[in-house]
Amino acid sequence: MRRTGGSSVPSAIVQTPRYIAFEGAEGCGKSTQAARFAESVGAILTRETGGTDIGQRLRTILHDTSVDDMSPRSEALIAAADRAQHLHEVVRPALDAGRTVVSDRSVHSTLAYQGYGRKLNVEILRSINEWATGGLWPDAVVFIDTPDDVIAERMSRRNLDRFEAAGDAFHDRVIAGFRTMAAADPERWVTVSAVGSITEVAGQINAALAERMNR
Ligand code: TMP
Repeated sequence: MRRTGGSSVPSAIVQTPRYIAFEGAEGCGKSTQAARFAESVGAILTRETGGTDIGQRLRTILHDTSVDDMSPRSEALIAAADRAQHLHEVVRPALDAGRTVVSDRSVHSTLAYQGYGRKLNVEILRSINEWATGGLWPDAVVFIDTPDDVIAERMSRRNLDRFEAAGDAFHDRVIAGFRTMAAADPERWVTVSAVGSITEVAGQINAALAERMNR
C-alpha cells in the first residue's frame, strides 16, 4: 500500500494498468474524488464527455441550453461518438503505455442517463457502445451514491444545464439505474456513499478498490 493523505492506495492499481471509471449524479463529488485518486496512483485523469478536442465540441452541443428538441437517440450517439474518440485518443494509448486511466464518467453514464433516464433500450445502448469502444469497458467502476435530498437541493438551483434541468423523475431513474447496474455486476462495481468529508469518502474508495482489485 502507498500512503497518501492518510488513506491507503490499492497496490494492485499501482502495479497493473487499469481502466477505472467514476460514476454518479451531478454534484456527488465524483470529479474531485477521481482527480484525487488519479493523483494518488499516478494515473492519467480524463473524462467523458469532453476528454478530447473533438469531445469538447460534442460536449458543447450536448450541454447547449438553447437546444430543446434533441432526440434521446441523438444524445446517445453523440455521447458514443465522444467515447469512441476518447478511447482511441486517450484511454487505449495510455493503457498500452502501461498507465492506469481514471475516467470521470464512462459508458455507464450512457446506460444510466440515456437508458434508464431517457428510457432508451439499455441492451441496444450496450451493443452500440460495444462497437464504439471496440469492447474496451472499464475494469472497475466507482459509483458515488448520493442521498436523494442532496440531489433535490442541487436541482433546485438556477442556471441548470440540459441534463440537470431534465426533472426529478429523470434523475430518480438515473440514480436507480446506477444502483441497478452496481448490484448486477458486483465484481466490477464498488459503491461508496457521498456522505462525509472529501477525505472520508476518499478513504472509502481506496478501501473498496483495494478489496476488489486484490481478490
Ligand atoms: P459531468 O458534469 O459529470 O461532466 O456530466 C455532464 C452531463 O452529461 C451529466 O448530466 C451526465 C451527462 N452524460 C450523459 O447523459 N451521457 C453520457 O454518456 C455521459 C458521459 C454524460
